[in-house]
Amino acid sequence: MASTGSTRFADDVRAGLTRAGQKSLPSKYFYDDVGSALFEVISLLPEYGLTRADQRILWRHATAIVGRISSPLLVAELGSGSGRKTRAILEAVAAREATTYFPIEISPSALARCERELSHLASVRIVGLEREYLDGLREVAAQRGGDSRLLVLFLGSSIGNFERRAAEHLLREVRTTLQPGDALLLGTDLVKPVAQLMAAYDDPLGVTAAFNLNLLARINRELDGEFELHRFEHVARYHPDPCRIEMHLRSCTRQVVRIAKADVVITLEEGETIWTESSHKYQPNDAILMGRRTGFRCAGQWLDEEWPFAESLLIAE
Ligand code: AVJ
Repeated sequence: MASTGSTRFADDVRAGLTRAGQKSLPSKYFYDDVGSALFEVISLLPEYGLTRADQRILWRHATAIVGRISSPLLVAELGSGSGRKTRAILEAVAAREATTYFPIEISPSALARCERELSHLASVRIVGLEREYLDGLREVAAQRGGDSRLLVLFLGSSIGNFERRAAEHLLREVRTTLQPGDALLLGTDLVKPVAQLMAAYDDPLGVTAAFNLNLLARINRELDGEFELHRFEHVARYHPDPCRIEMHLRSCTRQVVRIAKADVVITLEEGETIWTESSHKYQPNDAILMGRRTGFRCAGQWLDEEWPFAESLLIAE
């Protein structure tokens, strides 16, 4: 029998917290209802320009981007987000032809919000898929008609959460679900001054800290965990080469924590951290090179000047 969402969560939590050496938790579990709402607030913070840069590029250039892919066109998205950025692309497609949009998202609340945000769009049929990225894409491949092209959106620099090798592995797997001539629109946050990056991941209001700590709160809610949140602090770390910001949760004391539904008791030393996220930062060329190594050619790249960010249109060869 396939494991349910919550036993998968329990298994991943147990694996990450009982591993020898650095403890870790997968960043994909940030986005429950509370975490998704906190991320929406992060994207409004003056220190965190990433989401607004992504949106600016899409609003300015959606017609040009879509114009480089032929009809009839279907759209799929890895991680539906709030749907706000996607609206620019879907409106540009719908101005040309009726289309179907497949948001692929493991968080039911995010999926519902995205469907609500985009439901009023004329000429767009929405088929939400509550799946992991690749399972969802395989489902889209099974449902698509014979002569259509597929545009896959992977926006917001979500790829940055993957280690370099895992990111390329994912792109290669995405490529295997596509036909030649299909497209991948890939958003990558670009390298910028360290102080600017640190402020983006350690904002003075503490929203990012709350976003990070919510992962422990979620374990408490869903897995009957006994984390005492005030015994942890949010830490953002800059790591050069490859350039990334890491988020950790540092244990302020030595402590023993039981997580009933993960069937585990863990010990944290004073100062020990749980690594919760990596956000890799790229050169503009990196997206093109990663694409080339995984079976795509670049058909265009658009940059934001205000907050360095790149949108790259990669075509499956
Ligand atoms: C949504 C993965 C792009 O890595 O910048 C925001 C998530 N983490 N603040 C990122 C996040 C801390 C974000 N992504």
